[in-house]
Amino acid sequence: MKLRNKAAALLLLALAALLLAGLSLRARRAASPAPLARPASAPPRRPAPGPARLPGPGALPGAVQSARRRRPPRPRPRDSRRGAASLKKLARRPGELGSFQAVLPPELWIHLAVVACGNRLEETLVMLKSAVLFSHRKMQFHIFTEESLKSEFDKQLRQWPDSYTKKFEYRIYPITFSVGNPQEWKKLFKPCAAQRLFLPVILKDVDSLLYVDTDVLFLRPVDDIWKLLRQFNSTQLAAMAPEHEIPKIGWYSRFARHPFYGSAGVNSGVMLMNLTRIRSAQFKNSMIPTGLAWEDMLYPLYQKYKNAITWGDQDLLNIIFYFNPECLYVFPCQWNYRPDHCMYGSNCRAAEREGVSVLHGNRGVYHDEKQPTFKALYEAIRDFPFQDNLFQSMYYPLQLKFLETVHTLCGRIPQVFLKQIEKTMKRAYEKHVIIHVGPNQRR
Ligand SMILES: *[C@@H]1O[C@H](CO)[C@@H](O)[C@H](O)[C@H]1NC(C)=O
Ligand SMILES: *[C@@H]1O[C@H](CO)[C@@H](O)[C@H](O)[C@H]1NC(C)=O
Repeated sequence: MKLRNKAAALLLLALAALLLAGLSLRARRAASPAPLARPASAPPRRPAPGPARLPGPGALPGAVQSARRRRPPRPRPRDSRRGAASLKKLARRPGELGSFQAVLPPELWIHLAVVACGNRLEETLVMLKSAVLFSHRKMQFHIFTEESLKSEFDKQLRQWPDSYTKKFEYRIYPITFSVGNPQEWKKLFKPCAAQRLFLPVILKDVDSLLYVDTDVLFLRPVDDIWKLLRQFNSTQLAAMAPEHEIPKIGWYSRFARHPFYGSAGVNSGVMLMNLTRIRSAQFKNSMIPTGLAWEDMLYPLYQKYKNAITWGDQDLLNIIFYFNPECLYVFPCQWNYRPDHCMYGSNCRAAEREGVSVLHGNRGVYHDEKQPTFKALYEAIRDFPFQDNLFQSMYYPLQLKFLETVHTLCGRIPQVFLKQIEKTMKRAYEKHVIIHVGPNQRR
């Protein structure tokens, strides 16, 4: 009898303890999504990806400091053999490909095109790096460049670690123009910019393509913007973001001497194209009433408007979609976020809500001191050592850099820049935990 009482009491105690443990675990989960179970083999004191939220410009310094306090010291890879090995394993996570992706048939790959001339080599490599760091699906890069840059692209891309190079393949093409006078096309706006207009003709075997300027950075998987292709209705064949959110202060609405799309024009720095559709469509225009195929339209269009255009190929695209508005899918500004979106007050609502998805540092802001927030992001991605932990070696330094920019026009809204990239890293981390830690723990 006595013994049974004792046993019952012990059982009760054990139950209570279990309940408490369960409750506190739940409370901890609710307070922060970070505390994921750490494998026994994990490096000592490796920090979980802290939520490190930046609630608002006003609260920034405190928020960052507390994020910093919460961060345990960096584990040094050389601490111990085992620590170093598993750190390497963990760090390689964003580059790891599940076997399902390795066997993805080429028609399901993402196609990313860029045209890089002059001094755009480093910028282009940083753009490609951002694509590779965060994306899931296998990618095919189409790099159009001058002969003199070709070997350097080859050399640098080959130097990336295997875990990343297996995520993509690349082809390097010379700059060519299929119709009209090449010298004339080269002079349009920036050297080589007009090349992009010819992609549907040159990449005949490619169904769809994401074209980006060299000064673009992906802050989330390229897979996510690629998905928008599937949202096209039956007449849409390309997608771009508006050139400006407020027509009153937009360039086209105030200065353009040619027709342009919508009320403020579109920006061509990030452009999705269904090339199959572009190749088969007849485009309405102001020259021939029956419509023209893409390739047949380019040169006459250029001849007609060359004295009125300022921004080269982007102006031609605006003219084309002015006459064919049903062909264009307009995506929100967070997919092509430029200094214009924060220089005149914050005017990109979608980015305030969801954070910047694709950053476009036009007007050279990665390389001067005019917009330090843009520069900070560029440098964080450029300087990230591929095999390191994303949070430690990219996100935390980035937060600290942002602290120094709070007095600038775009630095006042750091959460806009950090929200999406934080989410991306957290997803990458969690994916890793599920893939690599999950099975271990179940054993
Ligand atoms: C592009 O358009 C073609 C023709 O309509 C269609 O078959 C193809 O699936 C489209 N590609 C994508 C990625 O949506
Ligand atoms: C597709 O969407 C565009 C833009 O909203 C629109 O102008 C066009 O009429 C739509 N096409 C069809 C077939 O509904």
